[in-house]
Amino acid sequence: MSRIVYVNGEYLPEAEAKISVFDRGFLMADGVYEVTSVLDGKLVDFDGHAKRLDRSLTELDMANPVTMDDLLAIHRELILKNDLKEGGIYLQITRGAPADRDFAFPDPAETPSSIVLFTQEKNLANAPAAQTGISVISIDDLRWARRDIKTVQLLYPSMGKMMAKKAGADDAWMVEDGLVTEGTSNNAYIVKGGKIITRQLSNDILHGITRAAVLRLAKEAQMEVEERGFTIEEAKESDEAFVTSATTFVQPVVRIDEAEVGEGKPGRIALRLREIYIDEARKKAI
Ligand code: PDD
Repeated sequence: MSRIVYVNGEYLPEAEAKISVFDRGFLMADGVYEVTSVLDGKLVDFDGHAKRLDRSLTELDMANPVTMDDLLAIHRELILKNDLKEGGIYLQITRGAPADRDFAFPDPAETPSSIVLFTQEKNLANAPAAQTGISVISIDDLRWARRDIKTVQLLYPSMGKMMAKKAGADDAWMVEDGLVTEGTSNNAYIVKGGKIITRQLSNDILHGITRAAVLRLAKEAQMEVEERGFTIEEAKESDEAFVTSATTFVQPVVRIDEAEVGEGKPGRIALRLREIYIDEARKKAI
């Protein structure tokens, strides 16, 4: 089915939606993005994604071409135009298309940012992987040092995903200085003795919107949370492991490299957190 996508102020059939070859998103990966999930035709944690987008833009000194109110209106219009019930909305803002390729940033007064949004239909709440759990391999984290900014520089995470596929696994956890940073497109957690352990926030990882909600919900449910780095060895010996993101919510991890995690099936805490998270997401979606 052909989608209606949003490009620089217009809603167009996807085949007619075009961006210049000089766009800095294309030439320099000079752009940021967000993925907001949609449940029952409504946006999950829109505010969190809008705030992080604003932060990414500010960190890169990039102009925001729309107000936050406009952004919400565009998200909602796309849901309506595409009759989206469940899935996500991808949003990308780049530093626009100057007259020629140049390493220096263009003057924002002459080159407006480009903005693109499109919908993606996906089974989120009843995703089969949540029942079976996923397997991950460990790989070196070779990304740049500002992973807190959600840029479109996704080549290494894509390579990580391919390394996982080649090894017969579903995803990869990246390791730096002996400690797990995060998954290729999700935050990583282990559970030991009932305690949920996940790396603390810094420039080393993306500050996941799902992570913030899940940790808050865990604390509200009297679960113990420790924010610190952990090694792959510790993860292999943990009782449970899981990942979080807007596209997977809470997804159990049942194998890390050659080792089964716990009993090799989705853990009790991960499944409980998934349930609480989806429940709240549905209630608070706008
Ligand atoms: N990825 N870490 C990385 C490297 C990510 O790319 C993502 C999200 C997350 C989780 O963030 P959040 O909970 O806000 O979705 C953590 C999105 C879903 C993607 O690239 O498609």
